[in-house]
Amino acid sequence: MEYMSTAEIREKYLSYFEAKGCKRWPSSSLIPDDPSLLLTSAGMVQFKPYFLQQKQLEAPYVGTTTAQKCVRTNDIDIIGTTGRHLSFFEMLGNFSFGAYFKKEMCAWAYEFSTEVLGLPAERLYFTVYLDDDETIEIWKDLGVPEDHISRLGEEDNFWRAGPTGPCGPCSEIYYDQGEEFGCGSPDCAPGCDCDRFLEYWNLVFTQYDGQEDGSFVPLPKKNIDTGMGLERIAAIMQGVQSNYETDVLRSLVGVGERLTGAVYGADADADLSLRIMADHSRSVTFMIADGILPSNEGRGYVLRRLLRRAARHGRMLGISRPFLVELVETVIQSSESAYPELREHDAYIKKVIGTEEANFARTIDAGMNILNNMIDGLEKAHEHLLKGLDVFKLNDTFGFPLDLTKEIAAEQGIEIDEEGFHAEMTKQKERARAERLKKNISGWSEDLFGTLTAEPTEFVGYDTLKSDSVVVALSDEETLTDAIATDEQAKEGVLVVLDKTPFYAEMGGQAADHGVITGAECVLRVQDVKKTPKGYYVHTCTLESGIVHVGDHLTARVDKEYRMAIARNHTATHLLQAALREVLGDHVHQAGSYQDASITHFDFTHFSAVTPEELVRVQKIVNDKIFESMNVTVKEMPIEEAKKLGARALFGEKYGKVVRVVDIEGWSTEFCGGTHVKNTAQIGGFKIVSESSVAAGRRRHGPGLLRAGAPPRLR
Ligand code: SER
Repeated sequence: MEYMSTAEIREKYLSYFEAKGCKRWPSSSLIPDDPSLLLTSAGMVQFKPYFLQQKQLEAPYVGTTTAQKCVRTNDIDIIGTTGRHLSFFEMLGNFSFGAYFKKEMCAWAYEFSTEVLGLPAERLYFTVYLDDDETIEIWKDLGVPEDHISRLGEEDNFWRAGPTGPCGPCSEIYYDQGEEFGCGSPDCAPGCDCDRFLEYWNLVFTQYDGQEDGSFVPLPKKNIDTGMGLERIAAIMQGVQSNYETDVLRSLVGVGERLTGAVYGADADADLSLRIMADHSRSVTFMIADGILPSNEGRGYVLRRLLRRAARHGRMLGISRPFLVELVETVIQSSESAYPELREHDAYIKKVIGTEEANFARTIDAGMNILNNMIDGLEKAHEHLLKGLDVFKLNDTFGFPLDLTKEIAAEQGIEIDEEGFHAEMTKQKERARAERLKKNISGWSEDLFGTLTAEPTEFVGYDTLKSDSVVVALSDEETLTDAIATDEQAKEGVLVVLDKTPFYAEMGGQAADHGVITGAECVLRVQDVKKTPKGYYVHTCTLESGIVHVGDHLTARVDKEYRMAIARNHTATHLLQAALREVLGDHVHQAGSYQDASITHFDFTHFSAVTPEELVRVQKIVNDKIFESMNVTVKEMPIEEAKKLGARALFGEKYGKVVRVVDIEGWSTEFCGGTHVKNTAQIGGFKIVSESSVAAGRRRHGPGLLRAGAPPRLR
């Protein structure tokens, strides 16, 4: 078998399946269009709608073939300790949606392995799912001897991307690296944890749609999803012992050697650090190129953790200056031909990484001294447990994340009291909450209504702007009370909870409604509405005249013009998001938004300033959609159905089983609880008044994000 570079293998794979009738398809973003997944972790993720027959592949193709960038971090602590595990890897795949199936796929996999790659047939081993006799027969017909085929259970040979969605039994192909790689056990066989049998290709027979209740519904057609780990097959084709010695990763290990003076293979601890630097620099580069920014939650936290881990291992090998950008340049050079987006966003990626690394350096310098002192103290006292309070102080004062303290302590044989740490965190949250409650931004404390036992307020404002309601609770912002009256003058700060209300409470970036609540004896002007955690809608009002009692029957009326002004801005925001994606690309994701009666702000992920030409195009598209007079429809539906429609959701947002979907004739479809116009023509017109980068240091968004303010002209 001949040496093949990573790039050659990738190209041979894609052209082989192209010749079989598959359409060559680009890798999708690492941010999946699927709120159930944090990151794209397999080639099949972007094809879920095709497996579910919600989308059809155009003729004459029989399937698709991709090289997909993937990130998997479920085993982040193992990465670096073995030669096989990577946080970032490329998956070569081919996918059939009801066209070819097992027989063709196994024959092609065999032909590609033995003839295109030239792997010796006697080194190949095949596993199948327990009762899959059919696949055993297929492998045998292709000439595979019986003792090279074995059956494995669900853990190895049944594949699913997550708890639900397309899945099925699979057959895996292994390469026997030779006895010298093995564990020596007489039971050593494909599936063993040692390095002898290396699994390089997984063929999934995607036949089922896994349901939330754990059952499997057969898919209308039988499909194929295959995945070959590019770095693993490269190791085989390059005759090296681990992924880290293949061309692409070895060049990164080489940069690490140059930066630190360490020599790969000379020392186990240094090797671990060099591997972590090489692997993590790839994942962070690709993640940032796809619009992920370091943060304290979700995928942003995964990125931050990987980046900091790489930075720390460099420091452990003696580098005292920021260095990650140098690794990033090599990542870009080695992958830019297949992933041109890397070079395209080159300066941006380096800026984000440089800023995060510099921030981290400050954290680590301050925290390391303290932590080392703590560890010294423990050693002197012959103790091995770092107190929860100490771990908490490191976190609270020096921003030392729990994972980092744990990792550093473990290196010195010290354990940390995690429970104690969490207890301190809870105490701190309670302290912060108590502070907040003393005076929250709207002037009243949520706890004021914490003792109410009435049913939560029923919101009726999607269908009507007026309701006959009963007063459930009243407060003057200090205590609950049974009645409030005006003196000589109107009384401000009167809080009213109703049994039902048409008033929209400030939520999901949309400002609250204004209006009036009136009764035989009173007039209340509503200035703000908030929903408490227990579901009470608290109307902050000015009591303009009269007296109001708990139990009064009142009429609540939303100011229609004001509501419409907010609705115009909200629907315009949906158009804006769709137009931004059309003009700038699919990496655009909502990072925050706010709409009130006069303006909409929309924060989103993008790599550079939006050019004036792009802004003009975005604005024109939104106005075109307004002039096209498109219908806006709102439907409640089960979350699964909404996903099938391709509705855009906010990642990390918890959605219930039934969701509300706002659709603009299929051009824009979003999960949304807000209030909207019925037809885009009601928006009237749209103008972008400003566009800027959100200030650096604003943690929630980080550098590089943009804000577009877009106030529709109201009349
Ligand atoms: N989805 C399967 C895997 O990730 C095959 O592509 O292994």
